[in-house]
Amino acid sequence: EKGGYDHFMLKEIFEQPDSLTDCLRGRLEPEAGILTLAGVEQNLSAFAQAKRIVIIACGTSWHAGLVAEYMIETLCRIPVEVEYASEFRYRNPVIGVGDVIIAISQSGETADTLVAIEKAKEQGAFIFGVVNAVGSSISRISHAGAYTHAGPEIGVASTKAFTGQLTVLAMMAMKIGKEKGTITAATYQHLIKELGQIPEKVKNTLAAHLKVKEVADKYADARDFLFLGRGYNFPVALEGALKLKEISYIHAEGYPAAEMKHGPIALVDENLPVLFVATKDAYYEKIVSNIQEIKARKGKVIAIVTEGDDLIKGMADDIIEVPETDELLAPLVSVLPTQLLSYYIGVARGLDVDKPRNLAKSVTVE
Ligand code: M6R
Repeated sequence: EKGGYDHFMLKEIFEQPDSLTDCLRGRLEPEAGILTLAGVEQNLSAFAQAKRIVIIACGTSWHAGLVAEYMIETLCRIPVEVEYASEFRYRNPVIGVGDVIIAISQSGETADTLVAIEKAKEQGAFIFGVVNAVGSSISRISHAGAYTHAGPEIGVASTKAFTGQLTVLAMMAMKIGKEKGTITAATYQHLIKELGQIPEKVKNTLAAHLKVKEVADKYADARDFLFLGRGYNFPVALEGALKLKEISYIHAEGYPAAEMKHGPIALVDENLPVLFVATKDAYYEKIVSNIQEIKARKGKVIAIVTEGDDLIKGMADDIIEVPETDELLAPLVSVLPTQLLSYYIGVARGLDVDKPRNLAKSVTVE
């Protein structure tokens, strides 16, 4: 059942080229330049006229929501808020007709997310579910939705579900942006082409897993870890830190790289590994200076970079390369080394990576 892999987590990480192909099947036709997403198309006016979009989720799904915030603001020019379901449900949120809620959940059964949706629905919002488990509670109470089609995820760590969520959310932003006229036909076509290449790029990234294992073995005894990123890679830093905590029990924090100087930099010394998610994008030069700031304080820098990046290679202690893609889609490849890193560190520390202590696959209690 683990298909020859030692753990479900590793199997599910390596399934991503296929799970993403399944997610794109029947939706994206790169050669013809076509993208169809039934759930969005049937409700195009609700999206195009939305005063704002509120994304509700927990954990890794919340991180996917943060990436979607950047995608939707860029491509659709609609204001977006990303809320922890557990906070949203107990507040007195200002929600009403004209608001669109995107609820993101792998299991479709997370209690906090479910109750938050019910509350927004009562207040007149339109609810769109981005869910993996077909027929789950969240998919049933939503007005419409799009499945991620990642297949069953058994490991407690969300891996292939996360990349499926990012893929669906990217397609949504592209579709809505096209409808609203907030992106050009050329950008739309460019993204269709780039998205079509993602499964192959994911496969190539995973093929280099032994490099990540080498880095994992080197840092497996670390006490703390810092993860930093900017822009589309900021949520990837948060996700990398969450995964490391869950799977290896190493204390890890994720931050937007520029926030470092507002506090966390006090932690940096020669014992602290700092992982930068630093692929080539609009923020590249800024993140290069953040790397220099860490090196100046003797921190150990591990950098996830775009293939062929010699500049960062010359500064970092360790680099892990990923293929180049549009910055909006970069998290789909840059997150993979963080998944592998926590897996290999967890294994090196002799832990039960599929069932970390104190955690359940779906959190159906509040
Ligand atoms: O099933 P959901 O996507 O609603 O679950 C949300 C979180 O509980 C989940 O992502 C959790 O953070 C994972 N264990 C992360 O790997």
